[in-house]
Amino acid sequence: MQSNQLRGNNGPRIKSNNISSKDYESITVKKLTPVIGAEIFDIDLSKPLSSIQEHEIQRAFAENQVIFFRNQIITKQNHLDLGRLFGPLHIHPAAPHVEGIPEMMQIYADQHSPRANGEVWHSDVSCDLEPPMGTMLQIIQCPPHGGDTLFSSMYAAYDALSDRMKIYLRGLTALHDGEPVYRGLYKNFGVKDKETYPHAEHPVIRTHPVTGKNALYVNKGFTTKIIGVPLDESDGILSYLFEHMENPLFQCRFRWEENSIAFWDNRCVQHRAMWDYWPNTRVGNRVTISGDKPFFNDSAP
Ligand SMILES: [Fe+2]
Repeated sequence: MQSNQLRGNNGPRIKSNNISSKDYESITVKKLTPVIGAEIFDIDLSKPLSSIQEHEIQRAFAENQVIFFRNQIITKQNHLDLGRLFGPLHIHPAAPHVEGIPEMMQIYADQHSPRANGEVWHSDVSCDLEPPMGTMLQIIQCPPHGGDTLFSSMYAAYDALSDRMKIYLRGLTALHDGEPVYRGLYKNFGVKDKETYPHAEHPVIRTHPVTGKNALYVNKGFTTKIIGVPLDESDGILSYLFEHMENPLFQCRFRWEENSIAFWDNRCVQHRAMWDYWPNTRVGNRVTISGDKPFFNDSAP
């Protein structure tokens, strides 16, 4: 068995990828880390995108897993249109939406909030049978400090697993359950609970439908157990994987400014929002793009 060259005696190591990708013509792309995240400059998202801009944003998204734009003064309609460039929009099974726009979720926390969104590492709505492929969030009011979002690359988390662990996980599936997450969650916004919330069984290792690469696809927010193994074993393996994926080597952290936009790929990224700004207010709008049913391709790298 080949040893994983990226793995040192004390845990995973990342080999920085010095091979620069083909230059971009219509946008400027600056990576946040060698592993995940890039800021996109020289583009105005309030204007219709040319086909080359659209193509290059798609490419930057695939290459960096999460991309960021700053100082974008866009209307709600611009935001919806941008999301629709990437696919039909997803409607959240529980969260409150902007009045009259079910496809636009409200992000809001202030001094009266009992909680804020996304404080546990997760991939958005992974409890859906076809979880959303991407999320496009704009923050329109920032606290003076804090409120960052952390993103972790599940390609990097998968790559850094030992060969033995990869073999163990290949072909396993896990339960992602929305019930314990969503029941009562939005009570403070006056949202009444639904009778049921979604749950789904997904592969533990997911093959990305665009890049063809494998990514770790269990998250602390929604994944409750691995199917087909004893519960204590499932608890132990999930606990290891949740700890493993939190390694800062796989992460970038985004400092929001007003009118920043982040667009992340839920198929290969987990994220966590920091609620370190109470009692200050943070407000945003989120558009989520529908995705496909997760699958595992045994021959993917
Ligand atoms: Fe989220």
